[in-house]
Amino acid sequence: MTAGQPLLVATAVTRRFGGLVAVNAVDVAILEGEIFGLIGPNGAGKTTLFRLLSGVYRPSGGSITLRGAEIGGRSAHAINTMGIATTHQIVRPFADMPVERNVLVGVLYGRSGLRGRAADAEVDRILDMMELAPHRATLGRSLTLARRKRLEVARALATRPEVLLLDEVAAGLNPTESGRMVELIRRIRDSGVTIVMVEHVMKAIMALSDRIMVMDLGRKIALDTPSEIAKDPAVIKAYLGERAVGS
Ligand SMILES: Nc1ncnc2c1ncn2[C@@H]1O[C@H](COP(=O)(O)OP(=O)(O)OP(=O)(O)O)[C@@H](O)[C@H]1O
Ligand SMILES: [Mg+2]
Repeated sequence: MTAGQPLLVATAVTRRFGGLVAVNAVDVAILEGEIFGLIGPNGAGKTTLFRLLSGVYRPSGGSITLRGAEIGGRSAHAINTMGIATTHQIVRPFADMPVERNVLVGVLYGRSGLRGRAADAEVDRILDMMELAPHRATLGRSLTLARRKRLEVARALATRPEVLLLDEVAAGLNPTESGRMVELIRRIRDSGVTIVMVEHVMKAIMALSDRIMVMDLGRKIALDTPSEIAKDPAVIKAYLGERAVGS
């Protein structure tokens, strides 16, 4: 699938915490249908940028638009209703509810508008997509970490987003589970959902992303295809910490 028009666009978006500029005048346009990776050293501003995109934080400056409509400063709920879902902002899976009910809650409270049998069919579709159908009756609390992570993604998907923000969904998984998550994320994208993901598991993000943006100290330092990013001197420098050594 080739990526299309700009869907989610940040222009000079900035977020300050007191004297610290956690996200510093970042410009980025996420294209419809792409898998967009976001990497950078600890404290680079990745999660803060996600929280700006999902409405958890208000920008201190700049703008964020979804299909041309300004969303910067809107509530997380309003932004979810407009079509952006995240695995972090949504409440953790309900521990005492079976898997299928967890997903149904997302369908009923999301923007699909589905009710009754149509809602049940949507739950089935999502459980199949996330390979959770055999575990539909299992309580959230009883799932393995890998399945709980898939359930978090399933709950976000249930709200029927146009854009899905995934913050470290492969973290803590073993290589087999992580490889499976990579397949599932590709499947979600192929179903028509644009994906933006933060991930420290390099193998996963390199394999999945159409483009990768690298952040360091709040700034965008590179944006390119995975193969170009892997040989970018500024990126290598940020990761090896030469700046810190040289300054
Ligand atoms: N709510 C907050 N209040 C004050 N400072 C914050 C807050 N959230 C983040 N920061 C600071 O902003 C900077 C960016 O943090 P952020 O969590 O966005 O980094 P990150 O790239 O997600 O890092 P990691 O890879 O460790 O998850 C850090 O210096 C962090 O300490
Ligand atoms: Mg983070």
